[in-house]
Amino acid sequence: MTQNISPAGSRAGAVVAAPRTPAPPDYGFHWLRDSGIVMNVVRQGGDRVRMRDFVTFNQVLQQVNTPAGLGEPRFNLDGTVDQTPWGRPQYDGPALRAIALIRFAEDLLADTNPDMGYVTGTLQPMIQKDLDYVEGQWSAHNGFDLWEESQGYHFFTRYGQGKAYQIGARLFRRLGALAKAAEYDHFASDIHQSLDSFWNAQNQVFVPILSPQGGSAGKQNLIDTSTILAMISDSDNDAWMPLTDERVLSTMFRQLDTFRNLYPINRASVGYPGVAMGRYPEDRYTGSDTGAQGNPWPLVNDGFAQIHYRLAKQLEQAGTVTFTALSLAFYQDLNPVANYHVGQVLAGGSAGFKDLLAHVLARGDTFLARVRVHLPADGSMAEQMDRNTGYMTSARNLTWSYASFVGAVQERALVTQYLGAH
Ligand code: NOJ
Ligand code: NOJ
Repeated sequence: MTQNISPAGSRAGAVVAAPRTPAPPDYGFHWLRDSGIVMNVVRQGGDRVRMRDFVTFNQVLQQVNTPAGLGEPRFNLDGTVDQTPWGRPQYDGPALRAIALIRFAEDLLADTNPDMGYVTGTLQPMIQKDLDYVEGQWSAHNGFDLWEESQGYHFFTRYGQGKAYQIGARLFRRLGALAKAAEYDHFASDIHQSLDSFWNAQNQVFVPILSPQGGSAGKQNLIDTSTILAMISDSDNDAWMPLTDERVLSTMFRQLDTFRNLYPINRASVGYPGVAMGRYPEDRYTGSDTGAQGNPWPLVNDGFAQIHYRLAKQLEQAGTVTFTALSLAFYQDLNPVANYHVGQVLAGGSAGFKDLLAHVLARGDTFLARVRVHLPADGSMAEQMDRNTGYMTSARNLTWSYASFVGAVQERALVTQYLGAH
């Protein structure tokens, strides 16, 4: 992962999505989305030197004139504009960058002698620039989704934006910028409310996109793991949308169930642990071809592992579980022998409750175990795993794949520590 941060020939702080190779796809660019997600994980690991380089690099990017303003999805590694025709604008990038910067500011403020000059002189103006930009764009229809395929209103994008406002408001209040904090609170709440409109009661899932335009042929926009990945786009949910929400659990279950029955390598007869998860079932992108049959992605598996770990912690915090018509399928699938039923309550501390938490954690582990099965001898991770053979395929050494793995492992350590202490 760190080899792809400030790689040779780039400007310091650039994060290459994946090193350029003779074979397609060419990911030799700094994506706002990938780098925001990656650097928030790097930050959490405590690497302030790389974080500062990333900040300095993004100071440059925020000044560059681009075809899509701050919604420009990716840059050359020297910080110049990439002129390739591309799915632009993408409005998740500035929000994900803001999340990484806000969290970094919080880290610094936790120091005994915080570097206030850097927090208020460097980070705060950059965060404000991104958040102020998002104010004008979050409800716009022209933005592309994180998969860079369809324009419309995107759950993933909105979740990241709302989350950035929520923690941005908290930071600005702490720094005494009360008017800005109130403004950001207001946007956080508007965006939060708008997420409800993505709930599809008939199919019992959060859908990824409303009013889609363009996109992969045949995509139904019902099952798409980006809605769940959205919920780990920040290092904490801070009760923004609790994972214990029955709609979230139902969405997770339906996604899992879809992929379990989709890829040949997921057949029970093959005997691999867990389930290999992809972006969405109708995916046609293989890295070199956009009209083929899509594959599972390690970063989705890692994300599902991480979300289960985080769920275990939130269940413990909630202190009790009640099975509802919407959440039952998720829990039942985790622990079939328990025979849970709707209306049943598991009280915190009870044997049944502990058993459930253990199953949530164990399920999380199966997603990582599955990626491990498909790792080559050198442990390298690509963007995808072949749906028939499991071999890593598409972009080699995708930075996001490593970061999602590290993010899951970091979360697991935090959660098991938390559960051990409770
Ligand atoms: C490249 C994008 O990065 C990928 O997400 C997309 O599926 C393909 N282009 C096809 O549009
Ligand atoms: C394709 C993915 O769909 C997109 O989300 C990502 O930003 C690019 N690859 C670069 O990794």
